[in-house]
Amino acid sequence: MKLVHISDIHLTVPGERMGGLNPHRRFAQALDDVRAHHGDATRIIITGDLAHWGEPAAYAALQSALGNLRCPVRLLIGNHDSRANFLTAFPAHPKDPNGFINYAETVEGTRLIYLDTTSPRTHAGHFCAARRTWLAGELEASTRARIFMHHNAMPIGLPAEDKIALVAEDRAPLADLLTAYRARIDYIHFGHVHAPVHGTYCGISFASVRSTGNQSLPDLSEQDLLQGAPMAPSYSVIIARDNTTTIHEIPFAWDGPIFTAGTAWDDWAKPVAAE
Ligand SMILES: [Fe+2]
Repeated sequence: MKLVHISDIHLTVPGERMGGLNPHRRFAQALDDVRAHHGDATRIIITGDLAHWGEPAAYAALQSALGNLRCPVRLLIGNHDSRANFLTAFPAHPKDPNGFINYAETVEGTRLIYLDTTSPRTHAGHFCAARRTWLAGELEASTRARIFMHHNAMPIGLPAEDKIALVAEDRAPLADLLTAYRARIDYIHFGHVHAPVHGTYCGISFASVRSTGNQSLPDLSEQDLLQGAPMAPSYSVIIARDNTTTIHEIPFAWDGPIFTAGTAWDDWAKPVAAE
């Protein structure tokens, strides 16, 4: 199973920029790259911050950008999104019985679980008791699962960033739930942090992905301010096979030189520099 993981596309009203960049152009570049190189993907999963200001025009632009793709796309919302405006633009989108945008599907024997970790007017993540009950039901019914979410469920050692991770009161009970079912959960994938962060949590491997727009700088001492920069964006390609997960970071906006080399090298003698 090949999954394309894109995150934090931060679409605006077309014509408006975000952080000095054109987010629509960046997202289109990412999708063009997926079309060119990963047309065999099973799913494209976009883990939130679909729209920077949660505006209807941004969701309309998202709809039209997704129109010409061969593989199904799965959408999650993030702290910059408006759940109401998202659902107005995507009225048939699945929800859980409480109206949260939690949903799941079984693909090649794995339950892909997509979580809604948002709460209005806060950048921090929330995953309340109602959402945990829904997730517990999914995990109980699964033999193998893979979780996608916007927020990081765990602190990542960046004091400023950790202030907008999943809030502490929801973090602990979710950690208990993840721990209880860790043998069934292959991986946790998230966005939000605009950086590639990898590790384990509750005995489960996790990975985040860069934004298609601006990136965060990992400042391990700054207490309050997030630092960003227009560093190279990427999306991830997740290859999940049996008990192995491999994640490739795809620098889709690179437009510089590319060198090629064979793998059957016979170049043991250092070339003599030309005079
Ligand atoms: Fe974001």
